[in-house]
Amino acid sequence: MKISASFLSIKDNLKENIEILDKTNIDYLHLDIMDGEFVNNKTYSIDDIKGLLGNTNKPKDVHLMVSDVINYINDFKQLNPEFITFHLEAIDNPNEIISYLKQLNIKVGISVKPNTNVDTILPYLSDIDLILIMSVEPGLGGQEFIKDVVSKIDYLKKLKKEKNYNYVIEVDGGINDQTINYCQNADIVVVGSYITNSDNYQTQVDKLLKNISSF
Ligand code: DX5
Ligand code: ZN
Repeated sequence: MKISASFLSIKDNLKENIEILDKTNIDYLHLDIMDGEFVNNKTYSIDDIKGLLGNTNKPKDVHLMVSDVINYINDFKQLNPEFITFHLEAIDNPNEIISYLKQLNIKVGISVKPNTNVDTILPYLSDIDLILIMSVEPGLGGQEFIKDVVSKIDYLKKLKKEKNYNYVIEVDGGINDQTINYCQNADIVVVGSYITNSDNYQTQVDKLLKNISSF
C-alpha cells in the first residue's frame, strides 16, 4: 500500500513545509484543487502550485474538485502529474475526459463522493487507472473517516480481481493510524492532517507504514 500526502491542512510556512513533506518517504504528493463551485472551498491555482512545489520531487497525484474539469486539466497537465482525478458528479460525459487524459499520457482517476452509489462508476472501470473513494465529503481536511465507504473499497477490490481490471484503489479523507485499518483493500491512502498537524511528519509516516506492514 502507498501513501499520498495531502498538504491541504498546512496553514503556515506552506512552501517550506511542503518541501519537508516531500522529503519524507511518502510515495506521492496529493494536490487538492478546489474551485469554490464544485465544493465551497477554493484552493491553489496552477501558478500558486508552481511556486509552492518548484523544489519537490515526489510524483504528483492531482485531485480535481472542480466543475470545469477540462480547463483545470489544461492548467495542471503542465506539472506532468502521475494522476489527474476528476469527480464523476461534476461531469455529464466522463468518456470525453478519460480519452482526453489518455491523449495527454496522464493516468486517469475518477473520484466518487461518500454518498455516490458505486454502480455509477461501473461503466468506466475498464478504462481508468485509479478510482478514488472519498471517505469524507470533499472540501475540507481534518474530517472524520466515514466507515460506510469501506464496503465500496472491498467491492471494488473484489471486482478488480474477478474482471482483471487494472485500476488502483485510492481512499481519501480522515485516514490516521487507526482508520487505515479499514482500508486494507486499498492500494493508495491519502493522508493529510494526521501527518501535517504534527511537528514531525516522518514520525507520523513511520506510524502509518508500521500499520501497513502488518496487513
Ligand atoms: C478533502 C481532500 C482530502 C483531504 C485529506 O476534500 O480531498 O485529500 O485533504 O485530508 P485529511 O487526511 O486531513 O482528511
Ligand atoms: Zn483529496
